[in-house]
Amino acid sequence: MAYETIIVEIEDHIALVKLNRPDAMNALNTKLLGELADALTAAQGNDKVRCIVLTGSEKAFAAGADIKMMSEMSFTDVFGGDLFATETGAITRVRKPIIAAVSGYALGGGCELAMMCDFIIAADNAKFGQPEINLGVIAGIGGTQRLTRAIGKAKAMDMNLTGRFMDAEEAERSGLVSRVVPAKKLMDEAMSAAAKIAEKSMISVMAAKEAVNRSFEVPLQEGLLFERRLFNSLFATDDQTEGMNAFLEKREPQFRDR
Ligand code: HXC
Repeated sequence: MAYETIIVEIEDHIALVKLNRPDAMNALNTKLLGELADALTAAQGNDKVRCIVLTGSEKAFAAGADIKMMSEMSFTDVFGGDLFATETGAITRVRKPIIAAVSGYALGGGCELAMMCDFIIAADNAKFGQPEINLGVIAGIGGTQRLTRAIGKAKAMDMNLTGRFMDAEEAERSGLVSRVVPAKKLMDEAMSAAAKIAEKSMISVMAAKEAVNRSFEVPLQEGLLFERRLFNSLFATDDQTEGMNAFLEKREPQFRDR
């Protein structure tokens, strides 16, 4: 499917999705998020895709929601239309893993979109921020919630109240990103992480994603029970037998996602 604001390439079991509004630093509007939701939902349904990498340009992952678009909106528009709720709901419903490869600015909705992914690999020039406070509003798609869970109250308050940017080094130190690499190596690093994931059994990959995400929703004992039951249930798969036999036979496993 041809998109206007994103570019999708599928190769070697990896869907590479690139945000593509170069004139506006990949600012998120309804069209872009709608196309992204559509592409990710399609990737979920495509048996060839085993991992997704979401990226922007070297200069900007995304500099936030489109301020021009929002400047023309009233309370009735954003509340009545529940701005971006449908699109972000679809993005966070994807069960296959999504890696955000962030170079340059990931601000406002851009930082929030990166946090909707399963983990973030940052280039050393990346800058994260929730500067909505400078516009007389606040974060609206996770910047007060996912960011607080990722980096704790002190830094989340600092970011949301002052609107300051966090560089890649601080982001890694704070737990917002999993790895920082030189900007030139960002895509290689993200694609090889995706390739590693693509080798696993899809069933256990989706179970791991679901279990980690569950930890944000339920108390510890409920989360542990959820994890244990998923762990138990994986013993019903051929891939569990194959994975363990391959280890014992000192060979690479041949997973078949069943
Ligand atoms: C619309 C944007 C934009 C945005 C940049 N541009 N960010 N357009 N919405 N969020 C456009 C600029 O208007 C400009 O267009 C072009 O991209 C290049 O940007 P410059 O500002 O000239 O570049 P630079 O000086 O390098 O500064 C980069 C920047 C700055 C630091 C990223 O652009 C910036 O502060 N952007 C806004 C960041 C922000 O406040 N984000 C939060 C948005 S609110 P022209 O046509 O002039 O060349 C949000 C809410 C989410 O995200 C919740 C929704 C429910």
